[in-house]
Amino acid sequence: MERLQKVMAKAGIASRRKCEELIAAGEVRVNGVTVTEAGCKVNPQMDHIEVRGLKIELEKKVYYLLYKPVGYITSVGDPQQRKTVLDLMEGISERIYPVGRLDYDTSGLLLLTNDGDLAFHMTHPSHEMEKEYEALVRGKVSKEALEKLRKGVKLEDGWTAPAKAKVIGEKGPNTLLQLIIHEGRNRQVRRMCETVGHPVLQLKRTRIAFLTIGHLKQGKFRPLLPEEVNKLKQIKIPLD
Ligand code: URA
Repeated sequence: MERLQKVMAKAGIASRRKCEELIAAGEVRVNGVTVTEAGCKVNPQMDHIEVRGLKIELEKKVYYLLYKPVGYITSVGDPQQRKTVLDLMEGISERIYPVGRLDYDTSGLLLLTNDGDLAFHMTHPSHEMEKEYEALVRGKVSKEALEKLRKGVKLEDGWTAPAKAKVIGEKGPNTLLQLIIHEGRNRQVRRMCETVGHPVLQLKRTRIAFLTIGHLKQGKFRPLLPEEVNKLKQIKIPLD
């Protein structure tokens, strides 16, 4: 909890003094109620603060695409002191967090933002956002195994939705698969491949919707372009 005038000043409304004057003049509402006491404490993350009827934005919304290497957990902190993806986001002062997750031992694309609405939208279970993976799996993958992956595989938390699966290469006795899924269940690709008899040896996420790795280097990130943000926001959630 922080003092209202301090939160307002941080949001760039005016100096703290001037903000106190605005409060005293009845120009500020917190959660719909006019507040005239400058000492009033607010929660900048939760409370809806309006100045002259306009909601204040506390932090500008930022969006980054990170190429996560293996060996980082997708979390903002770890009780076991392992490195987190935030350790890779040098120079970013906003309080960003990952959208969805990649396993510690998975590399590839991960979005990070401070936009809770977009994060909710993108991780909504019923949307249709595609995620593409390259999985190096043990052994030679038969047509039957591919067909099972495509149709859906029975995991302990239920059948997976139909997926796209194809062989894109071979590495000695092992196979490189491309898998495209819509869901985001825990360790889903690993469990799907394991279930059809081909444990994953290496896993990389190569695409989220229309966002690809492109020129991004492992361990590096880039801001999304405004048009990319708008496009992501427009990916629809079915209203059923
Ligand atoms: N599926 C997995 O098994 N692991 C990931 O990190 C992402 C998808």
